Amino acid sequence: MNLNDYTDNVIDHFMSPRNLGSMVDADGIGTSGDPDCGDYLHIYIKVNENYISEVSFLVFGCAAAVASSSITTELIKGKSLDNAYKITAEEITAALSGLPDFKLHCSVLGAAAVKNAIDDFRKRHLAASAAEQ
Ligand code: FES
Repeated sequence: MNLNDYTDNVIDHFMSPRNLGSMVDADGIGTSGDPDCGDYLHIYIKVNENYISEVSFLVFGCAAAVASSSITTELIKGKSLDNAYKITAEEITAALSGLPDFKLHCSVLGAAAVKNAIDDFRKRHLAASAAEQ
């Protein structure tokens, strides 16, 4: 496996990941991992009026995982929580102009972490609402 197996889009996001880093004041944090390879991803979101206003990520993984995570953050930024929740591994792969077949599973990390981050936000939000009553 070398970089020639990847599309220009994958290489671009791998070499220059967008929205990289943790977020200390995140409203929701989602983690996902692949038990087969040991790679894992954290997605951090800030939410404003049910829309994702900021997003960042930290990933430990292969080039496809880095690129998938990076483009996932671009795909969900500015989206409503409901729309972001629907993001799929196929959409992430398509946005990267494809991944080699044996790397398709790497795009699953992003979709799963987004759902977990939104679930985390909703759980916190419900807890905060309950505490106010
Ligand atoms: Fe593990 Fe890519 S090989 S996420």
